[in-house]
Amino acid sequence: MEKICVFPGSFDPVTIGHLDLIERAAGLFDRVVVAVLHNPAKNGRFTVEKRLELLEKACAHVPNVSFDHFEGLLVDYMRSVGACIVLRGLRGVRDFESECQMAQLNRQMAPGVETLFLPTDPAHAHISSSAVREIGLFGGDVTPYVPATISADVARLLSPQPDR
Ligand code: PNS
Repeated sequence: MEKICVFPGSFDPVTIGHLDLIERAAGLFDRVVVAVLHNPAKNGRFTVEKRLELLEKACAHVPNVSFDHFEGLLVDYMRSVGACIVLRGLRGVRDFESECQMAQLNRQMAPGVETLFLPTDPAHAHISSSAVREIGLFGGDVTPYVPATISADVARLLSPQPDR
């Protein structure tokens, strides 16, 4: 039976920290499904379509990864695709508290769903999508924080007057 994990997140946009986790998970599972949360109540900086496009471009070298999006509860999405392992990255103790709570809530709502945590590479512990957005919006250089294949796209899309 195929071993699948779901890596859910906002990916607004994908960072090198996310990419590292996807590559490592791809070595541990037969298939990694990267699932972008589509939250109609909260507008991200990037549309869900653009986030997926950037993810696909950044992960083009990873053969066993696929991409999807979901609305609502993660556990409902897990049931709908028949997957039972959620992968989340931990940058440090600050992530642990909220991630542990989310994993416990998800486990209570769906006892068959397990959350596995991978510690991020220490070199990426300070990187977040929100920091990338802020740096890009104020004209800073985003290239150290996002995958090289998409850094020009991210910089352009975050620039105050993007040339779309
Ligand atoms: O990249 P993020 O923003 O840290 O990802 C958070 C995400 C999308 C994994 C989380 O917010 C989520 O699963 N949202 C869907 C709603 C849900 O199921 N919440 C968990 C119960 S509190």
